[in-house]
Amino acid sequence: YTIKVAKSGGNVTSNLQYGAMEEEINHCGEGGLYAELIRNRAFQGSELYPSNLEAWSAVGESTLALQNLSNPLSSALPTSVNVKGSGTIGFTNVGFWGIDVQPQKYTGSFYVKGSYSGSFKASLQSSSGKTFASAEITSKSVSSKWVQHEFTLTPKTTASTVDNVFSLTFDASKASGGSLDFNFISLFPPTWNDRPNGMRKDLMQALSDFGPKFLRFPGGNNLEGETIDTRWKWNETIGPLIDRPGRPTTWGYEETGGMGLVEYMEWCDDLDMEPILAIWDGLALNEDIVSEADLHVYVEDALNELEFLTGSVDTEYGALRAKYGHPEPWTINYVEVGNEDEDAGTEALDTYKSYRFAAFNDALAEKYPYIQVIASTIDMTMPGSAGGDYHQYDVPDNFVSEFDMWDSYTDENPILLGEIAALEYNNGVGLDWSDYTASLYPWWIGSVAEAVFLLGAERNSDKIIGATYAPFFMNLDSYEWSPTFLAFDSKTGSVTKSTSYYVWSLFNNNHMTNTLPATSADAFGPLYYVSGLDNKTNSHIWKGAVYNSTGEVPVSLTFESIGQGTTADLTILTAPDAYAMNEVGDSTEVVKTTTKTIKAGKSGVFSFSLPNLSVAVLTTN
Ligand code: AHR
Repeated sequence: YTIKVAKSGGNVTSNLQYGAMEEEINHCGEGGLYAELIRNRAFQGSELYPSNLEAWSAVGESTLALQNLSNPLSSALPTSVNVKGSGTIGFTNVGFWGIDVQPQKYTGSFYVKGSYSGSFKASLQSSSGKTFASAEITSKSVSSKWVQHEFTLTPKTTASTVDNVFSLTFDASKASGGSLDFNFISLFPPTWNDRPNGMRKDLMQALSDFGPKFLRFPGGNNLEGETIDTRWKWNETIGPLIDRPGRPTTWGYEETGGMGLVEYMEWCDDLDMEPILAIWDGLALNEDIVSEADLHVYVEDALNELEFLTGSVDTEYGALRAKYGHPEPWTINYVEVGNEDEDAGTEALDTYKSYRFAAFNDALAEKYPYIQVIASTIDMTMPGSAGGDYHQYDVPDNFVSEFDMWDSYTDENPILLGEIAALEYNNGVGLDWSDYTASLYPWWIGSVAEAVFLLGAERNSDKIIGATYAPFFMNLDSYEWSPTFLAFDSKTGSVTKSTSYYVWSLFNNNHMTNTLPATSADAFGPLYYVSGLDNKTNSHIWKGAVYNSTGEVPVSLTFESIGQGTTADLTILTAPDAYAMNEVGDSTEVVKTTTKTIKAGKSGVFSFSLPNLSVAVLTTN
């Protein structure tokens, strides 16, 4: 390939080019990012997933019984556990498939009701009964009301496994009737930025290393809900934790609501991500659709959500935000209306096109004209400057064939690439949702194919708002969807960065502020590329990927404004074979990163070659 890059004439790149997408799936939030260690902390349940005692076990001669008392802890948390017996009794919790015990401070609390004159003992123990840390908590418990007790635990050592439990016990002989009622039992390790009710440090570190520029949340299918009534309701995820009822996710488990709207926004603040807020748009996963006549209720609700986030403290919902500790309004520049409205049958798309999208778009345009509204599909004519969201889960070959799909697109309606992932091995046809086998982890040829697709998007990055892999995280102890960008389990205690993570990071960390036109007599394939400039550093950038070549691909690259002798750093990612993947618990890192400095020769030509299935970035010094 002989490639000549012009010194001007490209297009301005979106500064949100790569971001993250989050919804409660794969226990990526609860049991993942959300640092709460106690699973099923408030016995929350729904019609779909009734309250239960999962993760809890009785200690000593005791019985645990779920009860809906006439005076519950809160109307949001109606179910509590009654612990009854003799001697030292109580319960243990196994956490999210284990508890990682480290020499650090754990902050805990529980609510209890019942007359009790003794003390409580909270501890972290191994499954064989070895105590790592314990606290004696003097009872303030009375029969007339729920009383919160707080404690800290500071183990001195690291436990050798995560096979540990949290235990809470009391002396039944000092409790009236030998029984007490408990609810909302919580334990947090130190969190990212020390936020109370915050996020797990190691997963946040991995995200921070990637440097996402935006966060699309809270879904995904999980925004939609299985039914209209079980949709993600923003107003039930704010305020005191005991006032958050939780809800059935669309991914097979109940969520507590602990990681709510405010926590999402704090997360954006902490990692400097632009929020792309998805609002519920009148469609549930069971394909129930709100009629045109009734939709105004949900439009109003979305406006209230926006007021909660962005309104001054003089507004009703802005005042509520201030009451919950955030007087300073946030800024919301991007709102997505719904999720995948083209995937839920013809009536869903028809109603989206005929009245649902317009109802939200018009209301947002009137009150928040600066907000970039994004439709949940690109399968419609967008009104005005509204954007669209394109999702693609496919086989590697099909990503490569979509390299040029944005070339003929208009720049009037910008596109979010809101969910992108190679999901199944090449099969000669493409992904068939009724019968497919997803890879457990991203694998090298899939990641290279994503790179080719992303290069096509970068070439058109005045039309593309940004791109995110999806889903982002999986907890291998309990997941519904693979592959994911990052994976972890409770046993290894480490986060595994996928092959795609390496590819997307390389692109994200070498941001062009604008593209530069390139000419070549050689057609795209097997080499795909984009060229541009970072006008902050004046570094010229070239990104490329080789997919399905029969051998090394020689490249002679010249930038019109770069002369002989200029040096450049060339970073090349490769892997041992097309199916190599980074697996949780595996100490071998399959992606090999090679960086070398090369010098422009005669006429300013950078000469190098790239092997098959490689991804490369060249930046001039
Ligand atoms: O990312 C997993 C799911 O894939 C999302 O919830 C949904 O939007 C898509 O179908």
